[in-house]
Amino acid sequence: MSTWFEQFERTGWLRRSGTYDEGFGRLASGAHGPMLDLAGLRPSRPTGPALLLDVGCGTGRLAAVARARGAGVVAADAVREMVAHARRATSGAVCAALPHLPFADAAFDAVLGAFVVNHVADPAAALAELARVTRPGGRVVLSAWDADARNAALGVIAAALAEAGVDPAAIPAGPSAREHYAAPAPFAALLAGAGLTQVRIDRCAWTHRVVPGRWWEDLLGGTVRTAGLVEAQDPTTRARIRTAFDRLIAPHIGPDGVAELPAAALLAVGLRAGCAV
Ligand SMILES: C[S@@+](CC[C@H](N)C(=O)[O-])C[C@H]1O[C@@H](n2cnc3c(N)ncnc32)[C@H](O)[C@@H]1O
Repeated sequence: MSTWFEQFERTGWLRRSGTYDEGFGRLASGAHGPMLDLAGLRPSRPTGPALLLDVGCGTGRLAAVARARGAGVVAADAVREMVAHARRATSGAVCAALPHLPFADAAFDAVLGAFVVNHVADPAAALAELARVTRPGGRVVLSAWDADARNAALGVIAAALAEAGVDPAAIPAGPSAREHYAAPAPFAALLAGAGLTQVRIDRCAWTHRVVPGRWWEDLLGGTVRTAGLVEAQDPTTRARIRTAFDRLIAPHIGPDGVAELPAAALLAVGLRAGCAV
């Protein structure tokens, strides 16, 4: 039986499946190229992993880039409506939720999960499953958001929520980010705990250009936990969050009225033990 956390996550992503792609999905795509590079699928390199799994694929942006780089791609997501979008990127898109994937042991040359580890109920069980479906010598590559200080794209809303005195307990807690993926050491330990070797944590950074009012809408239409916290507030508190958000994003706005928000992610890569790649 699924937990309150899992139900909250699934319902939240279902509600946002129509609005995720052009907003928050565009932000997340900044990490996709570097993740594929770490998986060994570089645009300039003719040979790389032949068959790749993208778990928590959302609308399929990562799968589309992987295909453009020449890989065969299977994409999986817990939410059927996301899978329907991802089918535009790859016909091999299926509805499946971590930590139980409907794939044989060692089925994939590389397994990627972009910003999904922060949405699973049991990160260690999820990692064990990702390692299981990776062939010996293949790589698992994950991303998670970097600290707010480096990642103003999310930092502005996190600071606005804190300033308005929002209680994080308004939504289901889920596993602790600090213990699992919010910093290099726990993120590396998560991969190592699944038996992956040569684990490395990289950082990638990019700039997200967006009109400030649009970014507010994109956060509400493309996140589950952040938007859930905003939606759980009374109208007065919501207005306070919005006022703080407008003030905090202002220093990032250029002369053209577009905000240039620093975005940053931690990228974790590990090798499934076995013969060399
Ligand atoms: C932040 S979005 C990331 C989407 C995509 N990877 C990207 O980079 O844009 C998280 C995705 O993970 C999916 N998801 C959440 N829990 C999941 C689980 N247990 N197993 C598989 N997918 C899950 C959600 O439905 C959502 O599409």
